[in-house]
Amino acid sequence: MSFPNIRPRRLRTSAAMRRMVSETRLHPAELVLPLFVREGLTEPRPVSSLPGVMQHSRESLRKAVAEAAQAGVGGVMLFGIPEHKDATGSGGIDPGGILNVAIRDVIREVGDSLVVMSDLCLDEFTSHGHCGLLREDGAVDNDETLAAYARMAVAQAAAGVHVVGPSGMMDGQVGVVRKALDEAGYADVTILAYAAKYASAFYGPFREAVESSLDGDRRTYQQDPANLRESLREVALDVAEGADIVMVKPALAYLDVISAVRASFDVPVAAYQVSGEYAMVEAAAANGWIDRERIMMETLHSIRRAGAQIILTYWAAEAARRLRAEY
Ligand code: PBG
Repeated sequence: MSFPNIRPRRLRTSAAMRRMVSETRLHPAELVLPLFVREGLTEPRPVSSLPGVMQHSRESLRKAVAEAAQAGVGGVMLFGIPEHKDATGSGGIDPGGILNVAIRDVIREVGDSLVVMSDLCLDEFTSHGHCGLLREDGAVDNDETLAAYARMAVAQAAAGVHVVGPSGMMDGQVGVVRKALDEAGYADVTILAYAAKYASAFYGPFREAVESSLDGDRRTYQQDPANLRESLREVALDVAEGADIVMVKPALAYLDVISAVRASFDVPVAAYQVSGEYAMVEAAAANGWIDRERIMMETLHSIRRAGAQIILTYWAAEAARRLRAEY
């Protein structure tokens, strides 16, 4: 051994030492739990490709949110699934639509004890499963869709939501939503922009959860997985249009994107550990091939380490409980 006797292993000698020098700490308040509420259910219904995740009834949703608040999570992200879908996704805009009704329920249940967010997109509500309105030729019409998002944002704000999450990847969506919210008197409603969102196969199980009827793909509006610089352009546009928080999605296969966004912008950066990321781990763990809890925490730390300050994950409540037990 040469002098000086430098041994990095000294800092790994005990659990107490490792804890003291840890560079990345997760906190329950940085975790956000995505939740699904399905119109017409009287009992929660399991989503088979997302073990442990439910389509909630209005009643069970309220309970799930109360439990998440109890666990100390920072927020919830709500997705609504209507009984009937139509070509224009009218159920998303209707104040009596399932998502807007659920927002009211949840706000009444938990008030301001955690941040209540809602997905601002048409795909859960459209019969064709696209995130926007279709033209005659079947292409997604960007600007017609923006008008629908504006109305949807105002409906969600009127229901009391704290944060809207425009996730449809239409050009100009953040600006249009900001303007509509401001004009309707909702200047305090915050925008979490799905700024860098890839056309990813990791969304597979989500499609089951929202009973998506999508035939085809979203490659004309979501990003090509091969691209990184394009994400910086997308984020820059969203920040210029008024995004308060920007999100990268999916998370694990896009840690370089999270890191680049973190380095280039000063707004909070979120990342969405999506359905397929969760399902892969759950499926392998169910086979006894990996240690489920350790992988859960390892992936969350990696996303945090890459630079995401807020993480949307289906493990949010469980991970929050674990973290609280550790401190
Ligand atoms: C769009 C939306 C999707 C997800 C969140 N918001 C689906 C998509 O873009 O195809 C996926 C989330 C997940 O896979 O967990 N409303």
